[in-house]
This record gives sequence, C-alpha cells and structure tokens, in this order.
Amino acid sequence: MILFYWFLLGICIVIMIIVGMIQFSNLFALLRTKGVPYVPLFGYQLRYLKKFIKFDNPNIKLVDLGSGDGRVLRVFEKMGIKDITGYEINWWAHFKGCCLKRIKKSHVKLCLKNFHRINLSEYDVVFCYLLDTALKRLREKFDQELKPGSRIISYAFQIPDWHEPDQIIVPNEKHPGRDRIYIYDIK
Ligand SMILES: C[S@@+](CC[C@H](N)C(=O)[O-])C[C@H]1O[C@@H](n2cnc3c(N)ncnc32)[C@H](O)[C@@H]1O
Repeated sequence: MILFYWFLLGICIVIMIIVGMIQFSNLFALLRTKGVPYVPLFGYQLRYLKKFIKFDNPNIKLVDLGSGDGRVLRVFEKMGIKDITGYEINWWAHFKGCCLKRIKKSHVKLCLKNFHRINLSEYDVVFCYLLDTALKRLREKFDQELKPGSRIISYAFQIPDWHEPDQIIVPNEKHPGRDRIYIYDIK
C-alpha cells in the first residue's frame, strides 16, 4: 500500500514538473515575443479560412509567422498547398506541433525560430495571427523583403499605419467586427 502512495506521489511530481515546464516556456516566449501569447485559432475560425481563402495556384510558398502548433498550416496543406513553413518561438507550441504533425502525417515544415531572423523574400503568401503591436514591428520587414505579387493574410488584426488592405473578409455578418481577415497584395 505504501508503495502505491509513493507511486502516486511520483506521478504527481512528474505532472507538476511537466506543467511547470509548459508554464515556464509560455512565460519565456511571452517575454521574447514582447507580449504575443500562444492563442491558437479555434475550429470555427479555421473553417472561416477554409471557406473564404482561395489559392489559384497550389505551387506557392506559404509561411505562418508564429505558427503555434501548426494547425493553420495543416488546413492550408489540406487545401492543396505543397510548400508550407511555420516559424514559432514558443518551445511548448512547437513541440506540440511536431507531435501533431507526426500523428496527422503532415508534411508541413515547423521551425523553432524567431521569425524576425528569417528572410521573407522567398515566400508568396505570409499568414499571420499576431497582435497589432507585433504587426507594427513587421511593417519594415514586409516593405523590404516581400516581392511584388506576394500576399499577406492577417487574421483579426489590421497592420497599423500601413497600406490599406486590398480586401477585408467579414466571415460572420452577425458580428462584423470580429474575426476579420485582412488581405494585402504587395505591388
Ligand atoms: C496568436 S498565436 C497564433 C498561432 C497560430 N498561428 C494559430 O493561428 O493557431 C501567435 C504565435 O506567434 C508566436 N510568435 C510571436 N512572436 C514571434 C516571433 N518573433 N517569432 C516566432 N514566433 C513568434 C507566439 O509564440 C504565438 O504562438
């Protein structure tokens, strides 16, 4: 019986260590991202993407800046896009993404890296679900690196004090202020 209690105590300690590591990873990532939390899109929001975002050509290179557990990337993969990469700084979100990628037999590329350290010039489509403060910091990078003909899809947040979006998708007419998708075509 005593052995069983020791076993239970051991399990509790292991769970507490794992939860602690996840919390530490989230906190550390929050500091590094200057406050952009790991908040993945919900299922209904992924369905909006499936319904409203169309790609004419599947042979494009797509990147998600702050890819979380890669769920958006797997949606785009199912839509037929072949070359998909996600950059994520949060260790826990990245690890979860790698596990899900294996389980779901996905071929998207997931990188544990700060997206400020990559060059965007090779990508045709940039997806982001970030706060406006983070988008503000990205404006210069977009201006310098994105090639004409490329596209930015920004979920929920407009890029502050930048070009006007070429398209604003309002997926839910009953709540037009929520879940807007801003599309920018780079000229
Ligand atoms: C709101 S979540 C979106 C996650 C995913 N794109 C989705 O829609 O489910 C934003 C993510 O961006 C990541 N992030 C923020 N700044 C980053 C940076 N500089 N480099 C890499 N990832 C970053 C955060 O860690 C967070 O997981």
